[in-house]
Amino acid sequence: MNSFIIHGDICYAADKNTLVTRENGYLVCVDGICKGVFGTVPEQYAHLELREYGGMLVIPGMVDLHIHAPQYAYRGLGMDKELLDWLNTYAFPEESKYSNLNYADKAYTIFTDAIKRSATTRLVVFGTLHREATELLMDKLDKSGMVSYVGKVNMDRNSPDNLREVSAAESLADTERFILNTQHKYKNTAPIITPRFTPSCSDELMRGLGELSKKYGVRVQSHLSENPGEVEWVRELCPWAENYGEAYDRFGLFGKPQKTVMAHCVYSDDNEIARMKENGVFIAHCPASNTNVASGIAPMRKYLELDMNLGLGSDVAGGHSESMFTAMVDALQVSRLYWRLVDQSKKPLNVTEVFYLATKGGGAFFGKVGSFEEGYECDVVILNDSLLPHPQGLSLQERLERAIYLGGDVKAMEAKYCRGNVIIRN
Ligand code: GUN
Ligand code: FE
Repeated sequence: MNSFIIHGDICYAADKNTLVTRENGYLVCVDGICKGVFGTVPEQYAHLELREYGGMLVIPGMVDLHIHAPQYAYRGLGMDKELLDWLNTYAFPEESKYSNLNYADKAYTIFTDAIKRSATTRLVVFGTLHREATELLMDKLDKSGMVSYVGKVNMDRNSPDNLREVSAAESLADTERFILNTQHKYKNTAPIITPRFTPSCSDELMRGLGELSKKYGVRVQSHLSENPGEVEWVRELCPWAENYGEAYDRFGLFGKPQKTVMAHCVYSDDNEIARMKENGVFIAHCPASNTNVASGIAPMRKYLELDMNLGLGSDVAGGHSESMFTAMVDALQVSRLYWRLVDQSKKPLNVTEVFYLATKGGGAFFGKVGSFEEGYECDVVILNDSLLPHPQGLSLQERLERAIYLGGDVKAMEAKYCRGNVIIRN
């Protein structure tokens, strides 16, 4: 059922500097795992079903390392504030509605359907602090066939009454319940420990979350060094920490013992960066959000030079769009502004680099994901870019570049596979 061959014009990033292109290539998938890309069908696979996408772009599924499912409801609204005011004015009131399971059901159906129609195959997701609504979100994401980590958010301080857990102990008990309910229940989704960010979580809560992460082997996601006012606040809240990163690391919530993804990292200083590098923390670069709420520009060239673990996040609804094509373009554009306005020694990102970030870079959080090399899980997006017509001849690399800039997912998505399973097919 999920062993087949895809024929088309195939592109993938072998590493951050290497785009592999093969016109009229054959991508072999056996039991959901890539066996490689070939110029002709190898003899031993000749019996497999051929799925014909001749003339179309065949690329790996996109990985969204950071998205807030409950915020999808107000995407594209309320971008007139900075982070902390933005949270209080827009994010927290919306998220408080997810105590109502009817509302959550409606909103999460809309969210899951939208992600299904996008080029995203893998996502790392914030829910809300409501356990039941978050489990409902996991039911829906699991059924979709896309692969996700989903977090019940923790918040026990500096939050409104209707979006705050009553104590660290109750927050921890509910999180343990959440892990027990979900860790072995699903094929395609798993829980991830999700302290919202240091200002929302007491030291006692953080300590307990670190213990749960270790006890159950559960990964971690949060926000880090996104906005100047936020970083200053964390300095006041955790005077014992040398930097914001240590406020997680102290409690075992920073890459060790469990894989961790931190969104933003716009204002990380050299010590914090060194700590991330040493612990293998993944950075989710969220350029749309960093622009919309005027957080700043993350130094991605520096992170690439340091060979950090990197991917892209849509960060809806700080980001206005769930499209990872948009995220790639935003990453390109802000890197050009960074070079022009901030540091001319940091050359802008290029298309190969952002394509790598959106596929294999972020995919590494999930394992062997985001490439078509042998042994990678077979996540595939097929774009019919003839629906984006042009009069001149284009190389395959140019077609990819153009599809990215033109936001190919909405218009031209022909099919999407995750782990070799069909998610959508026109
Ligand atoms: N920091 C804490 N919560 C949030 C959130 O919901 N969005 C963003 N962008 N940053 C955060
Ligand atoms: Fe976020």
